[in-house]
Amino acid sequence: MAEKVTIGNCELWHGDCREILPTLPGCDLILTDPPYGIGADEAANRSGKLAEKQIMMGSAGNKSGRGWKNYQIEGWDKERPAPWLFGLMQEKGKECVIWGGNYFTDLLPPSMRWLVWDKGQRNFSLADCEFAWSSQQQAARVLTLPRGEALQDGKEHPTQKPLRLMLWCLDMHPKAATVCDPFMGTGTTGVACVNLGKTFVGIERERKYFDIAVRRIEQAYAQPRLFEDAKVGAGETAVQGDMLLPANAKVSGAGTASAGLPGYTAGTTE
Ligand SMILES: C[S@@+](CC[C@H](N)C(=O)[O-])C[C@H]1O[C@@H](n2cnc3c(N)ncnc32)[C@H](O)[C@@H]1O
Repeated sequence: MAEKVTIGNCELWHGDCREILPTLPGCDLILTDPPYGIGADEAANRSGKLAEKQIMMGSAGNKSGRGWKNYQIEGWDKERPAPWLFGLMQEKGKECVIWGGNYFTDLLPPSMRWLVWDKGQRNFSLADCEFAWSSQQQAARVLTLPRGEALQDGKEHPTQKPLRLMLWCLDMHPKAATVCDPFMGTGTTGVACVNLGKTFVGIERERKYFDIAVRRIEQAYAQPRLFEDAKVGAGETAVQGDMLLPANAKVSGAGTASAGLPGYTAGTTE
């Protein structure tokens, strides 16, 4: 039986999105990061166990274990979502942004806009960048953001996205007032929505990640709001990225408003 928790303008469902999403009304934007079906859960845990072992054996010191954590929960990344679920997400969302899009090219239509998260580091053992498929027929965009950002956010999920990455995605959809993430993990999309005053609906199947999402979204509400009374959806030009800028931030790049965030550079691929 699915459980629903409501916090402010956020509705968080603990359950399976294959059962819950069909029952939900449509929204302005689906912004999500589904399982890629590549065993990322097990790979992260293997790295975590190895780092723990090295530290215990004293062979690598504490530093080598930094970032490699055993997240314990396995099994959620065994399979990609079924084709019908990609169809349903496109029906429910007026627009869709789907991270891991390169794993779903056979399930999604061709699109002009791809979003690229450039992790700013080359030839590391992990990927240099990640791709999101977007339903918007506009120019592709690149954001350079260090891979360690999610660690600074307090990473509790092996594939947790940095908060600023999700803020950047929302920047592409200033008029989207209602956002849904059917694979919300630790609720990063929801935290970004709280920061920008958007209504959010999230679904997560794993109890541990659902509880973390509830806690993070409660904490986001407890903090001073960065963007009060967003007038998105009311025909106004939203400038939420600007609202996030610290007073001394240097604005760089001609991309979105968030391009001015420290450590945050935007570019374009055409
Ligand atoms: C790639 S992770 C998302 C991580 C998220 N972006 C974050 O920042 O924490 C995908 C999540 O989808 C969840 N999931 C997998 N299948 C699901 C389903 N059928 N219904 C709901 N959640 C599911 C997994 O438990 C996992 O936490």
